[in-house]
Amino acid sequence: MALVSATEMINKAHAGHYAICAFNINNLEWTKSILEACEAAKSPVILEVSEGAAKYMCGYKTVANMVKNIHDALKITVPVALHLDHGTYDGAKACIEAGFTSVMFDGSHYPFEENLAKSKELIALAHAHGCSIECEVGGIGGSEDGVTSSGEKANPQECATIAALGVDFLAAGIGNIHGIYPADWKGLDLDLLHEIQVATNGKPLVLHGGTGIPYDMVNEAIKRGVSKVNVNTDLQLAFQAATREYILSGKDEDKAKKGFDPRKLLKPGCEAIKAKVTEMTKAFGSYGKAE
Ligand code: 13P
Repeated sequence: MALVSATEMINKAHAGHYAICAFNINNLEWTKSILEACEAAKSPVILEVSEGAAKYMCGYKTVANMVKNIHDALKITVPVALHLDHGTYDGAKACIEAGFTSVMFDGSHYPFEENLAKSKELIALAHAHGCSIECEVGGIGGSEDGVTSSGEKANPQECATIAALGVDFLAAGIGNIHGIYPADWKGLDLDLLHEIQVATNGKPLVLHGGTGIPYDMVNEAIKRGVSKVNVNTDLQLAFQAATREYILSGKDEDKAKKGFDPRKLLKPGCEAIKAKVTEMTKAFGSYGKAE
């Protein structure tokens, strides 16, 4: 199966009260590890790329070709979408051209009327190319790859207006933050999430900042309409901890076993990514759903 738009998997998740994990990728190792884990878990998945990570990987075309080729070489059978995370207006257009199957347009920093106009235009363009599209109302707090927001909570009426444009899924700020949550974090605003779900007539919602939210709180959010959970930092932390352990144990210096070979050096990190991906597909309910 080729890469697919995220619409069908997200709609099924919404109807079945579970969520699809959207994992940010940074390189070949991330892509391969996530795909292998999701194939073994029989879980649909979204691979997402920030504009900064795409630049690091030499551009959208390189990313699209790399993901398609790894996907085909591994003979992946579960549904996989390639999605732009927090896209700008120009970035979303470029990804649609480059062969992404899903894009996010994050116009939340614009005055609402401008967010609305740009969202409307990009929704039409994405759909003309068979691409799914996510838009955003209200900011996700913290900073990710240079995209910073103070974490303004979404206005349900504005959410309803953007939902009515025909967006496939909607990101709405409900107190969630990218990166590591501060110790005094107040938690997700689940009442606001419910209000948004009602105001948007049951539009599938996206929970950004999936790292560090207790799984039972994520599941409460899923009950209130969240169907896509974005996770970036957690996989970075899992990779870092396993790589650190390998190096601190001195295995990288074992000349006889060639512990310095990058394929050996990166393997514990990749295995840690796979374990975390499997854990999250189980926690958020997509495990086994592509059987
Ligand atoms: P975390 O890095 O907090 O998991 O957030 C990921 C995200 O929301 C990507 O858009």
